[in-house]
Amino acid sequence: MGSVTPWDVTGTVQYDKLIKDFGVKELKQLPSPFSDNILFRRGIIFAHRDFQHIVHAIEQREPFIMMTGLMPTGKFHIGHLLVAQQMIFYQKLGAKIYIAVADIEALGARGQSFEESKRIALEEYIPNYIALGLDIKKTHLYFQSKRSSNATKSCAYYRLQNQFARHATFNEVKAVYGDISPGKLFAAMLQAADMLHPQLPVFSGKMPVIVPVGIDQDPHLRLARDISKRQKYTEFSPLCSTYHYFMQGLSGGKMSASDPNSYLALSESPAVIKKKINKYAFSGGCSTVEEHRKKGGNPDVDVAFQYLRFFFETDDAKLTELANAYRKGTLLTGELKAYTIDKINSFLERHQVKLDRARETVLRLFE
Ligand code: TRP
Repeated sequence: MGSVTPWDVTGTVQYDKLIKDFGVKELKQLPSPFSDNILFRRGIIFAHRDFQHIVHAIEQREPFIMMTGLMPTGKFHIGHLLVAQQMIFYQKLGAKIYIAVADIEALGARGQSFEESKRIALEEYIPNYIALGLDIKKTHLYFQSKRSSNATKSCAYYRLQNQFARHATFNEVKAVYGDISPGKLFAAMLQAADMLHPQLPVFSGKMPVIVPVGIDQDPHLRLARDISKRQKYTEFSPLCSTYHYFMQGLSGGKMSASDPNSYLALSESPAVIKKKINKYAFSGGCSTVEEHRKKGGNPDVDVAFQYLRFFFETDDAKLTELANAYRKGTLLTGELKAYTIDKINSFLERHQVKLDRARETVLRLFE
């Protein structure tokens, strides 16, 4: 059996059990504009806390915010597409987008320097967001170590972190990081400030904020939600969150930037993508062609199929057709992999042209 904590995800993840254990709500199918997005439509975003406030804001055309943060470690890979796609989805719906580069957390939790975090954020994450369609000029992007050159704003953010420290317990921080060190305590309070500070009067003011995360990050959400209710300095609209499945690593488990054989990076060449999928992608097929033709395969555990389902096959009818053919045994693992490689590489070919351009934009804006 697997275990899921913000610092480690192992084994088979039982999402139904997590919904109960964490006390989040199952997300029911929603109409347009949500159903226009494959993550919602295909149930990849499967649970939430207080998402009705966001649905209401969108329906009533009221202002709302999407907030997220990135710990800049390693290459930007297809697992990162889950949140990136949601940023762009919400921005198009009119949300203000706040993005924290979690360089203080990277220092406190992993010992990574601010310079290294900045380099990775500017070379990997931000250009990919732009290339995927994020309008960076309309995005409130900041580094935790340098919130704003406007002193009033900057002080308001760090003041919030310090006020929050009065309202959290050791056990809550332990649930977030597994252990407690001064660096982790500070990082946990700062992440709560990341999620709540957009509602301060000097930023956007009180309004619903959606934080889309993998379910492993829920302890952060619980902590911030509870603190916001315990403290009485500021009135906050309750934090809303949605939870998506993990993008599986090539050989199963969660895709991780620290294991190159688990991820497909968005900057990798067609030859590398092909080699990695053929060599490492876990197959739901049978071990011989004869057996597969007879018994069929299982697309639900097939990693290549999951990549199609999460992102690369946008046509629902085609996806169903592939799943059925695979189950029947008429579609072989090699054929499914070849189809997936082709889909990913044609996406990457277009993406990488935009990525080069986005890197130049980033140099102009942030250097
Ligand atoms: N803890 C997150 C991670 O490990 C990064 C993060 C920092 C974050 N601040 C945030 C995520 C606010 C969501 C919202 O990647």
